[in-house]
Amino acid sequence: MSLRTAVLLSGTGSNFQAILGQAACGNLEIEVVAALSDRPGAQGLQRARDAGIPAAALPPSEYQDRRSWWEAFAGRLRSFSPQVLALAGFMRILPASLCDEYRGRALNIHPSLLPGYPGLNTYRRVLEAGEAWHGATVHFVTRDLDSGPLVAQARLRVTARDDEASLKARVQACEHVLYPRVLQWMADGRLEMVGSRAALDGRELLKPIVFEEKELL
Ligand code: GRF
Repeated sequence: MSLRTAVLLSGTGSNFQAILGQAACGNLEIEVVAALSDRPGAQGLQRARDAGIPAAALPPSEYQDRRSWWEAFAGRLRSFSPQVLALAGFMRILPASLCDEYRGRALNIHPSLLPGYPGLNTYRRVLEAGEAWHGATVHFVTRDLDSGPLVAQARLRVTARDDEASLKARVQACEHVLYPRVLQWMADGRLEMVGSRAALDGRELLKPIVFEEKELL
């Protein structure tokens, strides 16, 4: 049975599109039941509408305070009865209550080789630091921002020709393969959280599973 999945996004939604594409061609056995956003103008919401998927934006500015906004957001999310949450460029930090509610059932993709470079502007920071490697990480969402159990990474070598734009394009191309792949592990019941670690096929992951760029593209 397809895993009921809600996607949370704030922006372009290229990862969301990749997920939809893989689901549409039968490579990914999930049903995307909703796309939710904090930003009404998020391009990802239009992608959902184009695909006939319920899309909703709840802007925080329309609520009295952060707490009532999150209550409304969580309530809307629950109304779709998702089994899994896929955060794909969602630019808000989930409150502890939501992290706990979806513990072991919420994934995020982050554009760095975590635990290196949590937070924003990873491409610029990686280039400025002269790093040899960059990439993306899929991890479980927990109360610790960008620090939940690591599942899988896409890794690529930074070249002398790379600038922020090229690095972003290369990382995102990898993300578009990596994220659906990890979601399929969830759909197959192969991926879970055991204690504070991710586990694949019943074995705790002491480190993330790493795919090189050339293996993914
Ligand atoms: C991705 O690069 C992801 O790693 C980060 O936000 C970006 C979202 O891009 N969390 P898009 O909206 O999927 O195009």
